[in-house]
Amino acid sequence: MKILVTGGAGFIGSNFLNLFVPKYPHCIFINFDKLTYAANLLNLRAIENLPNYKFEQGDIADFNQVEEIFKKYEPDIVVHFAAESHVDRSIVGPAEFIQTNIVGTFNLLEACRKYWKSYDGKLFHHVSTDEVYGSLGKTGYFTEDSRYDPSSPYSASKASSDHLVRAYFRTYGLPVKITNCSNNYGPYQFPEKLIPLMILNALEGKPLPVYGTGENVRDWLYVEDHCEAIWIVIQKGKIGETYNIGSNNERRNIDVVNKICELLAEELDKDPMDFKKLITFVKDRPGHDLRYAIDSTKIKKELGWQPKETFESGLRKTVRWYLNNKEWVESVKTGEYRKWMEENYGNRAAG
Ligand code: NAD
Ligand code: TYD
Repeated sequence: MKILVTGGAGFIGSNFLNLFVPKYPHCIFINFDKLTYAANLLNLRAIENLPNYKFEQGDIADFNQVEEIFKKYEPDIVVHFAAESHVDRSIVGPAEFIQTNIVGTFNLLEACRKYWKSYDGKLFHHVSTDEVYGSLGKTGYFTEDSRYDPSSPYSASKASSDHLVRAYFRTYGLPVKITNCSNNYGPYQFPEKLIPLMILNALEGKPLPVYGTGENVRDWLYVEDHCEAIWIVIQKGKIGETYNIGSNNERRNIDVVNKICELLAEELDKDPMDFKKLITFVKDRPGHDLRYAIDSTKIKKELGWQPKETFESGLRKTVRWYLNNKEWVESVKTGEYRKWMEENYGNRAAG
């Protein structure tokens, strides 16, 4: 069994490979990644020399490169993580999001259609987000039947890619599955996203920029629970179906930031106020979705998936990981990271 993993040097893809490459030595995993700013080969150090792991640098938005990979490896399964993934960056510059998330997904689907002579034993697994459903009000949950209503260029590009994947199933019978999950957190997340950004800023004594009033709610999912869910869907999910993945951890942003400050204080034997005093309310994100919350009854009932981490246990693990992995932290604080931080938070007006 040959599994092509796109975007396997990013946050979720590398957690997926770290979990499953050692566990399934009879499967060959091919990691196809452009190595954008969000990628880091250090994430893959534990598996890079394993005989069932191969790395190929390349761009899914370039069909010739995708074709070369299909010709060279003849994959049976594609697990498609590769994407531009950050909402704020999609607001500043949407073009890359259209190329990678829409054109890139299209290229992969086309390659499957061209190179899979028979669809027997083949699968295109598309990793997507709950942001395609838009914003919830104070109540309610996203189900697999919720209407698509994306707000940002990021979520609109992911929605487009979901539609293409579904269209290839309905039109060509391509064997596909889609998972839409809530906000992930855990090791190897690039510190542009809320949780790692707050941890690293707090450690450096820098402001903790909370958008608007901090009332927006996200539903947090520990990254390894997400990866296990994807694996179960690959094994047991029905072709052509969508599964929502979330672990019922709705939190307001301000509560998440306060909790991070408390955990850091506990781990470092400090006063939580040393960190909480850094909280700064800044101008809100345009089109900021108020609330996301996932109903994951379907994957739990039909496939028996259950998350292992609570938000408290997962967040503690995450804080400890960032404290204990100084080499990784230093490696991401490159020119690109500094440039983003200076341009976006350097002279940002207080909210
Ligand atoms: P990430 O930004 O950390 O990593 C993305 C990876 O894709 C990087 O390694 C990057 O180099 C690679 N990539 C980008 N453009 C590419 C291209 N053109 N060709 C090949 N590789 C390319 O993202 P992530 O947080 O790991 O997200 C992975 C997937 O999960 C994405 O599809 C994202 O939409 C989805 N998702 C993420 C979250 C989350 O909270 N992070 C939640 C729901 C869904
Ligand atoms: P983020 O991690 O960017 O994920 P997403 O936008 O995909 O949900 O943001 C999570 C929440 O945190 C979102 O409501 C925006 C907010 N946020 C801040 O308040 N400050 C920040 O510096 C960042 C990056 C996000």
